[in-house]
Amino acid sequence: MTDAAFPSPSPVLPRREPAAEAGARLAWWHEARFGLFLHWGLYSVPGRGEWIMELEAVPPRDYDALADRFVPAPGAARRWAALARRAGMRYAVLTAKHHDGFCLFDSALTDFCASKRACGRDLVREYVDAMRGAGLRIGLYYSLMDWHHPDGARAQHDERARRRLVDYTHGQLRELLTNYGPIDILWYDSPWPLDPGGWEAERMNRTAVALQPALIVNDRNGLPGDFATFEQRLPSSPPPAWETCMTTNETWGFHGADAAWKSPREIVSHLVSCARDGGNYLLNVGPRGDGTVPDEAVETLDVVGGWLSRNGESVYGAARCGVRHSACATFTQKGRTLFVHVRHWPGDTLVIAGLQCRAGSARLLATGEPVPFEQDGRRLRLSGLPARPPDAPVTTLAVDCLDAPRQDTAALRRERQDPAAAGMQRRR
Ligand code: GLC
Repeated sequence: MTDAAFPSPSPVLPRREPAAEAGARLAWWHEARFGLFLHWGLYSVPGRGEWIMELEAVPPRDYDALADRFVPAPGAARRWAALARRAGMRYAVLTAKHHDGFCLFDSALTDFCASKRACGRDLVREYVDAMRGAGLRIGLYYSLMDWHHPDGARAQHDERARRRLVDYTHGQLRELLTNYGPIDILWYDSPWPLDPGGWEAERMNRTAVALQPALIVNDRNGLPGDFATFEQRLPSSPPPAWETCMTTNETWGFHGADAAWKSPREIVSHLVSCARDGGNYLLNVGPRGDGTVPDEAVETLDVVGGWLSRNGESVYGAARCGVRHSACATFTQKGRTLFVHVRHWPGDTLVIAGLQCRAGSARLLATGEPVPFEQDGRRLRLSGLPARPPDAPVTTLAVDCLDAPRQDTAALRRERQDPAAAGMQRRR
């Protein structure tokens, strides 16, 4: 998506400050690991996802009329905040403006916003107040792509249109970062039709941080930002700071016919995999136009929250894990503790091969009950486990090690062929 008319000032744009300072701003976010994504807007009224304007070629006049029907019940944001807390989430990100251009906030730069249409309220203010009141960190999603703005497409070929669109966009970001107190995350999306040079994205990020010194920004205005974003998948080579967002069914915005709900087990597994690789999991719900969240999503988030209340120690603040291979489990680690998330419960004995660290003690994380074990240079055998998994949807064991958890299963492969050359460390 390069645009010859508006070349970037420099092709590779530097991070805006030394890594240590960025690290300090990201510290809470790395600790948090789990956030709530909210896709909500006019598209939530017809309920066939947030792309309906484009995917059903809705005439602009008809789409505009949705603003007369988008009148959410009061208190919706407080209920989302309570839901996020129960789910064990630490932050939230709301679509302040999605691709359709409708603003949930009160903007002086357009009339196409909740405060000036039937709703008559500033829904970003309600959201910010609710999340802040619940002790959650606050993120605002803002789509650069804008299907409503008259220059939203024209900007690609017309310098005057580009100027207007960029001024509008920077102006709205200024509103969002000025009018609502501290904002923790600015979550850009979809830079079509401009490249970072065209968006003046470096200035965009500089201004954002000047307005909110503790802010972190993502990478979707085309610059690297503070963290990388992935969508509906885990990265194969995780960068230092990353987040993946995923849907609870298959759609971001409310879709009344999408019944493909993920199970609590899938969601816990994704969360654990993110924590294993040092990343965050931003899990989406699409409330209806009235602000209510589908029961299926609420029930699932409550199960996930229950699990986190027993097992959160293995997720929040977990560092990238050096143990990855098992027939039954996924691992996370914090300090010298290795957490074994058993997705396929084997019954009495669980074996972990190739650990390069010595186990000092082991327990069931949810209850603290000790787990007997024995270890030699090749295997750690945790035994005396109940026949059925004692926790759901995943049972977590904690192994407190005497040194940093590490694993080398390839060494076992080498040793099978050539025991001397492999130099296996026999620790017991
Ligand atoms: C994609 C979709 C958009 C959604 C986003 C979430 O970019 O087009 O609708 O908001 O993913 O990451």
